[in-house]
Amino acid sequence: MSERDTSKIICDTSAVTARDVILTGDRPTGPLHLGHYIGSLRARVQLQDVCSLFVLIADMQALTDNAGNPQKVSDNVLEVMLDYLSVGISPERASIYLQSAIPETSELTMYFLNLVNVGRLSRNPTVKNEILQRGFGDEVPAGFWTYPVSQAADIAQFKATIVPVGPDQIPILELGNDIIRNFNRTYKCQVFKECKALTPSSGLLPGTDGSSKMSKSAGNALYLSDPPNVVAKKVKSMYTDPQHLKVEDPGHIEGNVVFSYLDAFDPDTAEVARLKEHYQRGGLADGVVKARLIDVLESFLKPIRERRAEYASDKAQVMKILKAGTERARAVASATLKEARAAIGVVELG
Ligand code: TRP
Repeated sequence: MSERDTSKIICDTSAVTARDVILTGDRPTGPLHLGHYIGSLRARVQLQDVCSLFVLIADMQALTDNAGNPQKVSDNVLEVMLDYLSVGISPERASIYLQSAIPETSELTMYFLNLVNVGRLSRNPTVKNEILQRGFGDEVPAGFWTYPVSQAADIAQFKATIVPVGPDQIPILELGNDIIRNFNRTYKCQVFKECKALTPSSGLLPGTDGSSKMSKSAGNALYLSDPPNVVAKKVKSMYTDPQHLKVEDPGHIEGNVVFSYLDAFDPDTAEVARLKEHYQRGGLADGVVKARLIDVLESFLKPIRERRAEYASDKAQVMKILKAGTERARAVASATLKEARAAIGVVELG
C-alpha cells in the first residue's frame, strides 16, 4: 500500500476552481446530522456556485450492510433528499441522483474489481473498522467488503477531481485513486482522473457525549431535523468538563463539547474567545454556555427546519428533483462508461 499522499488532501474550499468536478454523497440509512453538515454538506452548498456538483444518494452502498432491511434504505431516500434541499443544496445548480438508478456504475464496478487485489481490500483501515463496529467477523458480506470499489466507480464516472468527505473516508479515496491509476496504466489510456479529498481542517465534530465522532450508531447525534425541544435537551445533556463542579472553579475547554460546537457554529468568534477565557478563569457556569449554544444552534437550524417543512409538503416534487438530477448524472456516467469500454476493448455488438 502506498504511503499517505497528502498532496491528495485539501482543507480549503478556495482551492476549488470552475474546472473542478465534485462528487460526494451519503448512504440513506438515517437522517443527516450536524457532523455531516460540518464534514461535507457545508462545502457542497458553498461549492455548487463554483463548479459542477454531483451528489449521490448511495442506496446500493447502503444495502451492502442492510440487505435484510431494504425498507430502511428506501424510506431514507426521501429523508436524505429533504436534508439536502433544506441545507441549501440547489436542485438547479447541483445534480442530486440515486445510485441504483444508474446501472452504468455497476458495470464500471465490475471492471474495477479486476484492478484491485484482495490483500489491498482487506488492509483498508476504514472498512476494517466498520467490520469491527458491525460485528461481522467472518460473515462480512462480499458486497460490503468491496464497497470501496463501487465507491471508486461512483467518483470515476464523473471524472471527479474533488470529493468532500470526512477524514475517515480518506483511505477509501486512496484506494480509488490506485484503481484509477491501474486502469489508465493497464489499458494505456487517460480515461480517469485521480481525485482529491476535501476535508475540513477542524476535523470531525464530536458527538454530544464527547466520545469520538458524531454518529447515529453511537446515539450521540444532533440531527438537522431535530425540533427545538430535542435540540435544547441534547445540548443540556452535553458533555462539558467533569472537573468543573462549582461555577467559580476554573474549567477546561479541551474536550468540552459545548465549546467545540460553539467553535463550529457561532459566527461571533470574538465572543466565543471571551467565553473560553472566562470559563478557564472560573466563574462561568456550564448552563450559561449551553444557553448560548442553544441560541446559536436555533438560529442555524430554524431556516433549515422551515425549508424542510416546505419541501416535505410536496414529496412528489422532491422525487421529481431527484429524477431530473439522476437523468443529468446518468448521461455523464454513460458517456464515461463508453470510453472505459473502448479503452478495455470490450466487444460492442452494435
Ligand atoms: N461512503 C459514503 C458514506 O458512508 C457514501 C458514498 C458512496 C460516497 N459513494 C461515495 C461518498 C462517493 C463520497 C464519494 O456516507
